Amino acid sequence: MVGIMKKTQNSHPSEKNRLDQLYSQPREAITSFAFDQSVVDVFEDMIGRSVPGYGTLLSMFPVISRYFVHGHTRCYDLGCSLGASTLAMVQGIDQPDVSILAVDNSSAMVEKCKDVIAQHVSDVEVEVRESDVCTLPIENASMVVMNFTLQFIEESLRPELIKKIFDGMNDGGAFILSEKIELADKVEQSRQISLHHAFKRANGYSDLEVSQKRSALENVLVPETIEQHLSRLKAAGFSEVFVWFQCFNFVSIMAIK
Ligand SMILES: C[S@@+](CC[C@H](N)C(=O)[O-])C[C@H]1O[C@@H](n2cnc3c(N)ncnc32)[C@H](O)[C@@H]1O
Repeated sequence: MVGIMKKTQNSHPSEKNRLDQLYSQPREAITSFAFDQSVVDVFEDMIGRSVPGYGTLLSMFPVISRYFVHGHTRCYDLGCSLGASTLAMVQGIDQPDVSILAVDNSSAMVEKCKDVIAQHVSDVEVEVRESDVCTLPIENASMVVMNFTLQFIEESLRPELIKKIFDGMNDGGAFILSEKIELADKVEQSRQISLHHAFKRANGYSDLEVSQKRSALENVLVPETIEQHLSRLKAAGFSEVFVWFQCFNFVSIMAIK
């Protein structure tokens, strides 16, 4: 357990935020992207400059958690990285006896996440745990967030994971699934990718950085279409499933049990 905290002021880790220059120099060979220590060290800067709408998306989590989270229930942050979604959820929770389990399978992420969470004080109990979300038991959940993590999980494991999340949720609970998506229409897909790269260049990444990072993520980040996500969520049993946020080819889906 990482401590009982008092209400947090920040929705995002505010500790020293090192500039992401991991792909700024030409590499002879591009190895597959991994959430290792080098990524952890620059992660806050990396995600903010790489995911269009990330800050706006997170800023809605307190609104969503206040709306959906009931007393005496649990919340989950699956693929928590440095705990940004956890801290945003905490801000909106005003019910008694609520705890959040923040889970990641990168030991380097979990170590730093524990430090970040310990710096914030709240009435909501937060546990940061190193675990694979695919083997994690989920129970009594009124809100589950999976922010840009399903895309890193092997495709064949995704249906079972989504069903497990559904089974562990209480009626009326909300599952927030944010993902980079692929567009079914080839022209739109190409346009959205160009816009995403333009977004990254506007945030200071060079063409070399964009291209080397893209190669590193090949076959590691495997996006699906909105239709694939919606039909899987419906098949799992969620009664209301809809896109509530989109910025270029990045979406967030709300699935209510
Ligand atoms: C893009 S980051 C998530 C960002 C974070 N949710 C946020 O909103 O700031 C993806 C995270 O998922 C974690 N991850 C990938 N596969 C996982 C798995 N099978 N189980 C647990 N965590 C996983 C990675 O270690 C990484 O920290």
